[in-house]
Amino acid sequence: MSVVRSQVAGVGAYLPSRVVPNAELAQKLDTSDEWIRERTGIRERRIAADGELTSDLAIAASQEALRAAGLLPSAIDLIVLATATPDETFPATATTVQARLGITRGAAFDIQAVCSGFVYALATADNFIKAGQAKNVLVIGAETFSRILDWNDRTTAVLFGDGAGALVLTAGKGEGTTKDRGVFSTHLFSDGRHHDLLYVDGGPSKTMTTGHLRMEGREVFRHAVANMADAIDLALKTNGLSASDIDWFVPHQANQRILDATARKVGVHPSRVISTVAQHANTSAASVPLALVAAVADGRIKREQLVLLEAMGGGFTWGSALIRW
Ligand code: ACO
Repeated sequence: MSVVRSQVAGVGAYLPSRVVPNAELAQKLDTSDEWIRERTGIRERRIAADGELTSDLAIAASQEALRAAGLLPSAIDLIVLATATPDETFPATATTVQARLGITRGAAFDIQAVCSGFVYALATADNFIKAGQAKNVLVIGAETFSRILDWNDRTTAVLFGDGAGALVLTAGKGEGTTKDRGVFSTHLFSDGRHHDLLYVDGGPSKTMTTGHLRMEGREVFRHAVANMADAIDLALKTNGLSASDIDWFVPHQANQRILDATARKVGVHPSRVISTVAQHANTSAASVPLALVAAVADGRIKREQLVLLEAMGGGFTWGSALIRW
């Protein structure tokens, strides 16, 4: 049976040039390189320059993804940009990206699911393609979390970084089996009861300010492992696969200990888990595509391989996506 499959045509990434190692944070905060590395695996993060916006990061990543896909911007008929740190309250940062890429047709909108944003954006793009409403979709995760951190709070300031990753999804054909190339399944979840464990204490309607990130780290950790493991299990079960069938697990890059604990729970060998948390820290919606791009660039992720994405973030939101590359 012939089916429409959303296939990955190209990926791209952008990281701000400024590298901030843990030692630099330890000069201003009561923390240490040793504490941050031991508790999180993070060694450094990138921080956007003054005046460098989420849209700037997104555009650079998108241009690289379009080049890799061999497509002109004019071929794109939908842009779905996941971010919790848009340039402005409105319009959607996706429309700024659209304009600056010179795209004058189709639609562009933002998705807000914090650290799960990229998986939400990918699921949205996949469904637009399967419904026949889009052919070539630019799926972006881009963040400038440095702008919403309380730089005096050592429990959160050390954990995050800025960056962007993008992927071009294009409509292709398959036989309806897991031998096809493309997205097989996406699963999205949220549970708004956990607002107080991870949120930003500001916003246009509530405070008329941007606010700062607040988090109960230990509780978030516990939920993250359980939720991501559930999302992985569901992706495998839906597709009649087991963990050993998956070539690469690409989790949201929050904390190396979360990555390790989740892999243990679902029975995945650490050598098959892509980790960029040491270099990027947690870049929220950008973390999954940045990890994907790193593994494609160094030759680990190859065409035809099975790749499982998973993420969890504020809301709570969480989800997974299974793709044959
Ligand atoms: N430097 C030094 N000490 C610190 C720091 C720091 N940067 N931050 C906290 N501490 C102290 C605490 O004050 C506490 O001190 P106390 O024992 O005197 O009270 C001690 O270290 C232990 O604190 P815990 O919070 O229990 O440390 P834990 O081992 O849980 O690690 C962490 C904290 C890293 C935040 C961890 O809980 C975590 O990663 N949670 C997940 C949060 C996360 O990644 N959120 C991102 C968004 S959601 C997502 O992406 C999944």
